[in-house]
Order: sequence, then structure tokens, then C-alpha cells
Amino acid sequence: MLRTHTCGELTINDLNKDVTLTGWVQKSRDLGGMTFVDMRDRYGITQLTFNSDDNAELRAQARELGREFVIRVAGKVIERSNKNLKMNTGEIEIKVAKLELLNAAKLPPFLIEDETDGGDDLRLKYRYLDLRRNPVRNNLVLRHKMAQEVRKYLDGLDFIEVETPVLIKSTPEGARDFVVPSRMNPGEFYALPQSPQTFKQLLMVSGFDRYFQIVKCFRDEDLRADRQPEFTQIDCEMAFIEQEDILNVFEGLIRQLFKNVKGVELAEVPRMQYADAMRLYGSDKPDTRFDMQFVELNDIVKGVGFPVFDSAELVIGINAKGCAEYTRKQIDELTDFIKRPQIGATGLIYLRHGADGSLKSSVDKFYNEDELKKWSAAFNTEPGDLILIMAGQTDKVRKQLSELRLEMGNRLGLRDKNVYAPLWVLDFPLLEWDEESQRYHAMHHPFTSPKPEDIAMLDTNPGQVRANAYDMVVNGTEVGGGSIRIHDRDLQSLMFKHLGFTVEEAQKQFGFLLDAFEYGAPPHGGIAFGFDRLVSIFAGLDSIRDVIAFPKNNSGRDVMIDSPSTIADEQLKELKIKTTV
Ligand code: AMO
Repeated sequence: MLRTHTCGELTINDLNKDVTLTGWVQKSRDLGGMTFVDMRDRYGITQLTFNSDDNAELRAQARELGREFVIRVAGKVIERSNKNLKMNTGEIEIKVAKLELLNAAKLPPFLIEDETDGGDDLRLKYRYLDLRRNPVRNNLVLRHKMAQEVRKYLDGLDFIEVETPVLIKSTPEGARDFVVPSRMNPGEFYALPQSPQTFKQLLMVSGFDRYFQIVKCFRDEDLRADRQPEFTQIDCEMAFIEQEDILNVFEGLIRQLFKNVKGVELAEVPRMQYADAMRLYGSDKPDTRFDMQFVELNDIVKGVGFPVFDSAELVIGINAKGCAEYTRKQIDELTDFIKRPQIGATGLIYLRHGADGSLKSSVDKFYNEDELKKWSAAFNTEPGDLILIMAGQTDKVRKQLSELRLEMGNRLGLRDKNVYAPLWVLDFPLLEWDEESQRYHAMHHPFTSPKPEDIAMLDTNPGQVRANAYDMVVNGTEVGGGSIRIHDRDLQSLMFKHLGFTVEEAQKQFGFLLDAFEYGAPPHGGIAFGFDRLVSIFAGLDSIRDVIAFPKNNSGRDVMIDSPSTIADEQLKELKIKTTV
């Protein structure tokens, strides 16, 4: 080893030891006849001192060091006169006797410090420098710890980690596939897995019984703060179980992660029906750190001649507690917020319950005091409350009010990153109508089993059929989702039929799975957690980018290695791919 110790471990107990350290120059400063250098490695920072009186030549050498130079020093551990008790190594310094320059460095394009002056693009282009910064590195250390904890928990329950292939055929998880041309099979393509879904089901047919994998998945979809084109799942499957078993085993996983990594003891994870989540929060991933549930008002607001409410399918509102004093400007801000194209609402109606008990609405022209009292009663308002109401088509207005609810949660400081509200959302619909293709799609994926009691409705009322499907939500983020699977060929064929596949298409795309179901497929089910999302929640971050070592930017580019990129004509020719230019 080039060093005897790291930069994070020497303390007052090591006084007078002769040591050799290696690392990067964080910064240096001159004070009279002395030069102080902060030397950094992954483990911490140790102060080095160079004194002209002891060795003028050595000090002159130290003064030449620039930021991020890689050095090796030998010297003695001495007590600092100016102690920094916040640092592990803050009571000591190294009186350097020998300095060796291992590598010089160009001036980095941004400050390698906890607070940096580098913008997102610059930091991504020089990600290897960004990763030297404590906050970014700490996120990866946290990720590592969580991965270890996951393996420990699942191994303890007899789960077996099995690697599944990356060059596969399309698995429909609702996004587009990334494809890879096959040189040996001209004109044919592999698809990268959107998840190992079919393979883990086949492993159940093989008798593996309990499988997991911390695995890369690939989805060609629009990117957001919580989406990357390649991301990692904790992918799990179990045989001979019921939904309740899955919920218990994986609630246990989440509980253990919180306990052992964050020191947080979670209470039992509450459960909510999908239908209730939509009705009360307008979202299948409600942020339950705060209440502010929706109240439906159709019965009390319709029929008095206010056209906006009379023509709406649903009139709903929330009670923003303590906001009655909001100014005109603040209300206008909220109105602008919901009118943004991403939300697309047309307007906001409010009722102030003044501190003096008065009720004042933005539609006083249509509603008299007696009627407003009914509104107030529906929300159980107290003086000081502000009711915010929206109206429209049911699905749309719920979604819009859900955005407003989250915005109010932010404004009122109700979304504390150190508070964790996990939730199971259960009984998702099996199918979802897609306007664009004018047909039903599987809401989770086509292998999800319908609730047996709802199967009869597949023909008559497909949109109402519920699935044995569940999501885990933490603080309004979907961190995991899964289902009990179909394990019967006939039922799986029926599902494909309802999803618009002909018998031939189903056989061509999924014949391997349908065939496998004829060779003794056990009842099975599973779940996959978005590992990046879980880590980002643990790290208190809004984006999953900073818990991924080398992430893509918002256009799906890796700006460091400049990918995607064109490939040589030669390569295209070899792949028998015709160029259009
Ligand atoms: P699903 O599609 O719900 O289920 O994915 C599981 C979890 O993966 C995370 N996730 C993502 N994270 C980052 N970037 C993305 N682009 C992205 N897409 C999804 C989410 C999500 O909850 N095979 C099924 C699981 C099963 O049924 O067992 C599946 O993939 O946190």
C-alpha cells in the first residue's frame, strides 16, 4: 500500500506516530512561515503542515501544490494548536517530512466542495469530479448500504439471487423498448428488459420458489426527476403464496431498511384501496404525510344556477387550514398554478372562513350564507380556514386537485423530508382505457391476475375488473409495485384476448410463457421496488439522478461519454442496417 493510514482516521490517540498518507489537495493556505494543506480522500480530510523554519525547500514545494493534485506525504502526527472539534481528525495535523507529487491536476471546472458552483450539466460532464464531493459520494455509500441490507434480509428468508438475461425479447411494462441489433441474425433485434418479469415467473415454474435480483431495467420513456432510462429494481418473486404473504414479507424488507439504515422504526404500513386513494387524494400514490383529503360537493353545490358547478361531473375541494388570510395575490398564484398547461385546470373557487367566523366565497353572487354554511359543514371548517374548490370531469379534476393539494402541502410545510409515510395501495383496476389506441391496456402488466370474483365482468364491464395488484408508496412516490400472477394458460390467453392480441400474436410473443404454464406452474406473485427511488427518499433528494453513479441527463444523454452517438458505417454494414443518408 502507498499509505499507512487514510485521511479520516488519525486522532489525538495517534500522536507522534510516523505515518504516510495519500490523497487529493482540497485546499492550501499560507500563514507567515507556514503552509497548511487540507488533504482529502474518501474517508476524510487531514491537515498537513509545512514550516519554512524546519525545511524551506519542502515548504516551497508545498506552495506549488494546486487544488486536486494527488500527493503522498510522510510525517509525524502532532497536536493542532487550532483545533476543529467538528472533524474526526480535527485535533491533529501531520508535520510533513516528505512530500511526493503522484500526479498534478488541472484546475477543476467547479469547486470540489459540499457546496459547489458547478451547474448540472457541468457536473454531469465531469461526473468523476462531482463524485469526489461528499454529498454525492455519500449517496452512493448509502446506496451500497441499502443494497447490502436488502441482500441480507432476503437471503435470511431463503430468497435466491438469480441473474436473468439482458438481451431478450420485448416485455410489455408499458414503455418502449430499447433494442439492440443482432449481427448474427441480420434484420433481427434483441430488446433490453423493461423488467425481468417473464423470467422470474419462469423461475417459479422451475421451482426456485423465492427469487430476487438487484437488476438493471431499461425503459425508453419520457424522463422525469424520478425516471431514468436505465434504472435499478429490487425484483422479487415467490411461489405458493397469497397477496397477504407478499405484503408481509416486503413490508418487512422496507421496515428493516428504515430501521437498520436510517434508524427509523416504522409503524405498520397502512393499506388503502385504489378507489379510495383516487376519491380522497386524486392519486394512486397519495402523499399521506398530511391529510387534506378531498371532499365531494355535488350534492350541496349543484342546482342553484352556477353554470361551472352545474355542468361539472364532479365538484371537489380541499381545506387549506389556516389559509383564510391568503391575499388576492396568493390566490391568484394558486389559480395560475392550476392553469399551467401541465395541470390544465380552468379555474379555482374559494371560500374563506374568516377569523371572525364570516364565510366569504368567490361565488357569493350564486350562493347565499345558508348555502355557504353547508359547504363549511362539509369540510368541518374552523375560523381561519380556506376551502379551495375545483370542478370538471371526474378523473381530470381529481388529478388537478391532487396537484393543488401537493402544492398546498409544500406551501404549508407539510412535506417534511424527515417524516416517512409509507402506504400500500391495493386492488388496482386490471385494465385501463387508452384513448390513443382506443383499447384497454393492462394497468400493471398482462400477467397480473384479475380478482377471481371480478373475472365474469371481463366481458361486460372490463374497466371495473379489479386486479390482485398492489403498489407501495412512500411520501407520494411509487417505490414499488407488483401483483399475484396468472398461472393458468387459459386465463392468460383470455387476458391476451382482452388486451387485443390475436391467438397467433399471443403465441408468437408469449408462447414460451403460455407453454410453461402447461408444465406445472405453481401459484405465484411478486413485486419490484424502484431501488433508485428508495435510495433517493432515504437520502432526502427530489431526483434519483444523484443516487446513480453515472446518470443520464433529461434528454437521456450521458454527457460525459457523449452517448448515444452515431456509429461507423462499417459497423452499420456489419449489422446489415441500412442508413438513410
Ligand atoms: P413497475 O413497472 O411498477 O413493475 O416497476 C417497479 C418499480 O420500478 C420503479 N421504476 C422506475 N424507477 C426509475 N426510473 C424508471 N424509469 C422507472 N420505472 C419504474 C418504480 C416502480 O414502482 N415487473 C413489474 C414488477 C412486478 O410485477 O413484480 C414492474 O416492473 O418505483
